[in-house]
Amino acid sequence: MSLINVKVVKIASEGEGIRSFLLRKTGFFKLPAYEPGAHIDVHCGEGIIRQYSLCGDQNDRHHYMIAVKQVELSRGGSDLMHLSVQEGDRLEIGSPRNNFSLYESAPHAVLLAGGIGITPIIAMADRLNALGRSFELHYFSRGPEHTAFQNRLLRGSFATRVSLHEGLDVAATKARLKAVFASPPPRTQVYICGPGLFMASAESTALKTIPAADIKLERFAANPATNIGPTAPFQIELAQSETTLEVGAKETILDVLQAHGIDAAFSCEQGVCGTCVTRALEGEPDHRDSFLSPKQRRANQQICLCVSRSKSSKLVLEL
Ligand code: FES
Repeated sequence: MSLINVKVVKIASEGEGIRSFLLRKTGFFKLPAYEPGAHIDVHCGEGIIRQYSLCGDQNDRHHYMIAVKQVELSRGGSDLMHLSVQEGDRLEIGSPRNNFSLYESAPHAVLLAGGIGITPIIAMADRLNALGRSFELHYFSRGPEHTAFQNRLLRGSFATRVSLHEGLDVAATKARLKAVFASPPPRTQVYICGPGLFMASAESTALKTIPAADIKLERFAANPATNIGPTAPFQIELAQSETTLEVGAKETILDVLQAHGIDAAFSCEQGVCGTCVTRALEGEPDHRDSFLSPKQRRANQQICLCVSRSKSSKLVLEL
């Protein structure tokens, strides 16, 4: 996928440890249009690529906005964005991709954000508000100082739809979620983005009154519940290059491909973004990702190379 060159034109603090980055396209052409919920790959430096949701003005084709939280156990991306990237710097980004699409015609939407999960959620709120659709936004954060985009949320044109839930413990969070989903209008669509534990709690509460098909999740970190199980060695046969390779117990398929100089696209390396999804032609994948849908997993025709393994002794891949 070809990369887009952008310049960092503004960096702003949006809360404790949260910075927004306004990116302007260099050169003549406009930036690609995107839908709410979309994210971009950002090449942060030192070979690190991270995915950040677009959270700025969707009608502005000259700028993209992202927001990044500096995390304690950073794998490098958030540290680079916070400590190295300065206004005036140039970055490379990918075109927007959307795994968290908004169904704009739903009679009602419940938008749920935890922490930095507000980024795709605020873009959805902007869009639903512009369309005049019915929605409510619930934003759970550790406290007021951790609540990002306060101006837009509390003083913007959809402020009356926003409920902030700040500084709650686990029990209080569960009680609020229960209240949110107590009696949703028929055919309500739910969108959830946030840390893993928050998402698990929000999803299980929502499932009590909302059908699973109407609940959409966007993960920005691997779901620990999916990446478990034995790690026995197996073989991969690469159909196009007519090569067979061994994947050891402590290696991923992606590790092995890279070690043998075989080109395979990847980005998050956590089974979240879908960049490495490849067709599985034979064998039974052992899905460990958080990207493929339950239906896609059951079909066993695709596999995330960065985390998933094989239940059969050999997998044939379209590579
Ligand atoms: Fe993101 Fe594999 S690289 S899912």
